[in-house]
Amino acid sequence: MTESFDADWLELREPPDARARDLRLAQALSAALPARPRLLDLGAGTGSLFRWLAPILNRPQAWTLVDADVTLIEFAFDTIADRAVAVGFEVSAPNKHTLLVHTPAGAWRIEGLVLDLADAPHGLPLGRADGVVCTALCDLVSRSWVSRMAEALRLPFYSALNVHGDARFLPVHPADGTVARGFRRDQLRDKGFGGPALGGGATRAMAEAFRAQGFQVTTAPSPWRIGTHETRMLSDLAQGHAQAAMRQAPRNGEVITGWATARTAQARRGRLRAVVGHSDLLALPPRRAR
Ligand SMILES: C[S@@+](CC[C@H](N)C(=O)[O-])C[C@H]1O[C@@H](n2cnc3c(N)ncnc32)[C@H](O)[C@@H]1O
Repeated sequence: MTESFDADWLELREPPDARARDLRLAQALSAALPARPRLLDLGAGTGSLFRWLAPILNRPQAWTLVDADVTLIEFAFDTIADRAVAVGFEVSAPNKHTLLVHTPAGAWRIEGLVLDLADAPHGLPLGRADGVVCTALCDLVSRSWVSRMAEALRLPFYSALNVHGDARFLPVHPADGTVARGFRRDQLRDKGFGGPALGGGATRAMAEAFRAQGFQVTTAPSPWRIGTHETRMLSDLAQGHAQAAMRQAPRNGEVITGWATARTAQARRGRLRAVVGHSDLLALPPRRAR
């Protein structure tokens, strides 16, 4: 079954995501793409990767936002249009499936594709794409999913913000270890991609799978550093960790609830911060395939 994500949470994480992604890897992706790249954004959610990467590519480009959740794709279209207008870009809709953002760097074309990616690459229009990109997706997928993608793709593959499994909430709390162990275990739960999720092993599994197909793979750390002023993000993050730990170890319920209450109170008082390990990956196909 497809894991569902709340648009509010995706909006909340957009600024820390934007700060965390490794710029050099994105620039290397940009250099490997053609003059008018066509990108498939897998698990696009509310379109946060588009908003971050399109100005880095800084040229005419076409995006297909792929997600199982039609509400998120609709939300993405609205958010992209609103933010474009807010910075002074003109927006038009040549038909009801396409949005065009007119920028000084050329037109940015956005379309949506509602698709359950469980069987990907099946259903993906790879023949009409120059690159496959995603953010905050590949720790949800399974090893067999990654192997299939690596075998099928002969295009640049960029996967940002894959969790490592190490999250530090500061200052320390006696129940940190209990919550962290439960959270890490929960990340390996089947998230609807045909097997246990890769969780903290995602970047390594992708690197192995793409290297085995002759891709040149580069990775870079992209940790979230969430400061004391980001109170809502911190309290939602702590609640999310506690819920995940509770699912895995309900016998520790009292300890976990105590931890969540303490962390929420610290967040509200501006006394909490967090560092959450992620990494980005860029896999470029063998030269003869480009
Ligand atoms: C953690 S969210 C990341 C969203 C977005 N990339 C971002 O960073 O804001 C994961 C996204 O993958 C989508 N997703 C999860 N499972 C899916 C599936 N089986 N097929 C298609 N999309 C899926 C969710 O709807 C959600 O938008």
